[in-house]
Amino acid sequence: MSDDFLSKIDIVDIISDYTTLKRQGNEYVGLCPFHGEKTPSFHVSREKQTYYCFGCKRGGNVITFIRTKEGLDYYDALKYLSDKTGVELPEKEEKGDVKKAKLVNKIIEMNTVAARFFHKNLRSAYGKEALEYIKKRQIMPATVKKFGLGFAPDSWDLLIKHLLSKGYTEEDILAAGLGIRTRSKTLIDRFRNRLMFPIFDVRGNVIAFGGRVLDNGLPKYINSPETACYRKKENLYGLNFARKSEQNDMVIVEGYMDAISLYQAGIDNVVASLGTALTARQALLLKRYTDNVIICYDADLAGQTATLKGMDTLAEKGCNVKVITIPEGKDPDDFIKKEGAGAFRKLIEKADSLVEYKAKVFKKQCDMETTAGKVRFLKMVAEALSKIDNRMEVEMYGKKIAQDYDISPEAILSEVYKDEKMYTTKNVQPPSNPLSFPSVESKNDGTENERRLLILLAMDNDYIPEFYEKEGDSFFEDNDHLLIFKEMLRSYRDKKTVTPAMLMQMVDENKAALFAQVLQTTHFESKELIEKAIDEAIRKHRLAKTERQYNEVLAALKNTRDDETREKLKNEFAILNRELKKLKR
Ligand code: GTP
Ligand code: MN
Repeated sequence: MSDDFLSKIDIVDIISDYTTLKRQGNEYVGLCPFHGEKTPSFHVSREKQTYYCFGCKRGGNVITFIRTKEGLDYYDALKYLSDKTGVELPEKEEKGDVKKAKLVNKIIEMNTVAARFFHKNLRSAYGKEALEYIKKRQIMPATVKKFGLGFAPDSWDLLIKHLLSKGYTEEDILAAGLGIRTRSKTLIDRFRNRLMFPIFDVRGNVIAFGGRVLDNGLPKYINSPETACYRKKENLYGLNFARKSEQNDMVIVEGYMDAISLYQAGIDNVVASLGTALTARQALLLKRYTDNVIICYDADLAGQTATLKGMDTLAEKGCNVKVITIPEGKDPDDFIKKEGAGAFRKLIEKADSLVEYKAKVFKKQCDMETTAGKVRFLKMVAEALSKIDNRMEVEMYGKKIAQDYDISPEAILSEVYKDEKMYTTKNVQPPSNPLSFPSVESKNDGTENERRLLILLAMDNDYIPEFYEKEGDSFFEDNDHLLIFKEMLRSYRDKKTVTPAMLMQMVDENKAALFAQVLQTTHFESKELIEKAIDEAIRKHRLAKTERQYNEVLAALKNTRDDETREKLKNEFAILNRELKKLKR
């Protein structure tokens, strides 16, 4: 199913042949062509390319419309639309996707040619200075080879000439980001007189480059632009090597040099985020390989801010996060060269947990000499603690911080639990009499929620992989919905766009109408709002599931006499009850 075909046909034009549509806000409204009515309840959205009738509850996209109205099957409806509008049939439209895939392959091929070119230069007369610099930074020949380091000569067009001689065009070179067009329209090399770091994807393809000056010139680094195969925020430098490490955790550093230097010293589980605060995408990428992440950024304020942000992003995605602070404000590269891998491993062992690190930062922000400052500190720590899901950890870290900063543990913990009336601050008690709790009634229609989620993902395809990592297939209880989602995932991986109107293509007429109904109350929004709505749909799903389990355990409790089993059930009940409270707020 090609999006290009649908995107070239306008549903408002087509439906206007069947009924008179009047513009009303964002929509077009008219008398329903499917059932007789005197006041218009038939809505068409140009933006969404769908229709819905509040009267007869029919709805769908332009193909559904033609199928229903003209009584045609799918392919005949396509043909009908093609004849009517002159838009070519989908088979021929596949070309667009193939073209994109070919471009990605071509850029990788060109980058590989360029990487070899840069690497060879190191051993030519051009590379003398670069080689000296590499030596000065104590990078060994084996490391240079492993990371494919190279040198871009101080020339305007050596690489361009090389690429042209291999049959690539100027257009290709621009698309790969290897050349730039000057104001006088000549094409020149992007990287000149720079030490070159190829950037690999997890499979080891060269997808981009970073280039460092050999002196103190500025900018220190120039990187490839975003291209058809490189998205800066979705990649981690060195992951192609680090994922093969035997360690069950991963160290994140800031720079190319830090990653290379640690790797060379034997810390082979290291990746670099390349100067940006860690993104959610990068966190999910890491999570494919490990849950245990150790952040090791510079100790300066920028590094500290990036660390705090990165920690939260990682923790939100379910990683166990620890932080290494390198003594005396050194960066990891300096430290490992002076102190060696053994000393670095000791730092890993002593790494702060997320809250411990935060407490250190908060301490600097509060005046601990005054009562007000101490209270502020306590509140900040409690806030950080309350984000931890696991109660045992909350208690453990709460006590540890209390000890380290000389505060009473009760003061911290009671601040953390101040919103929870059911529990004492000292230990976890299951409710004494669960039977006095009513069973809960679910207000969620699970399948509607699933439809809304699919629509949101269709509105912003960028969230498809993230959702998949988070929830997997198990989210969908409706089999059709599961199939649709799998299709969306496949499309996304093939770099094809999925639109809300296309969803209706994947189900029968009745279900298409249900989608149209949900779509009627869902609006195209900013990325942020869509992300929020997706989170909300996930929360609702969990709520429904937890409610079900809660009721099951409650029922089981009512029917069980055995003390030991009852004790177990009570514990389970306490956990579910707490989970429910959390999900309901
Ligand atoms: P050295 O100074 O050689 O040790 O390099 P480094 O890799 O340790 O760099 P640094 O700690 O200064 O910066 C960390 C990362 O931020 C770098 O690896 C780059 O990815 C990025 N970065 C630093 N400076 C620049 C710059 O001028 N431009 C861009 N685009 N990125 C930069
Ligand atoms: Mn450095």
